[in-house]
Amino acid sequence: MAKLKVGVLISGRGSNMAALIKAAEAPDYPAEIACVVSNVADAAGVAIARAAGIATAVIPHKSFPDRETFDRAVSAELEKHGVGLIALAGFMRIQSPWFPDHWAGRMVNIHPSLLPAFPGLRVQQQALDAGVRVSGCTVHFVTPELDAGPIIAQAVVPVLPGDTADSLEGRIHLTEGKVEVAGLPQGATLLFSDEP
Ligand code: GRF
Repeated sequence: MAKLKVGVLISGRGSNMAALIKAAEAPDYPAEIACVVSNVADAAGVAIARAAGIATAVIPHKSFPDRETFDRAVSAELEKHGVGLIALAGFMRIQSPWFPDHWAGRMVNIHPSLLPAFPGLRVQQQALDAGVRVSGCTVHFVTPELDAGPIIAQAVVPVLPGDTADSLEGRIHLTEGKVEVAGLPQGATLLFSDEP
């Protein structure tokens, strides 16, 4: 069976992207990483993707007059590679409404909390401030509302006494790659069943 072509969007270190690239090297993984697009030229993930032989494009958002023009350029790059599913993996750009509309049901994100708790930024501090005893990470479909789309996969991570935002972030980060790798095929299944 033909593999699902995945395009990964990044802005930074790219460890979730790296986990996907590694998983996709297995012959029985149902997805292949068709391309990686970064809006940040010196993002560490760009070098990782290049070293893995993945088609990589840098599209700096600052070169575009507005969000939608940038989004359309990113979209065109993904379509050039026949991408059927986008994985946002630390992509730090708020998108114009056009983008999630155009890719509705065909875009997933990983977020470092148990959504719907703690969307947005300063996620770990939100968790500490709320006094929760567990947090975790979530793979979900992307909709126009930030961090609010249908949930595909989650993992629970304990909040330990004395945790800081950094220590909690580090512990959650250790689980994220696994959830991303497991969540992507689940998302693809939902995608093909047409019922995200
Ligand atoms: C992760 O914490 C992810 O949950 C969030 O951005 C971070 C990306 O990390 N959306 P990395 O670039 O994959 O290492």
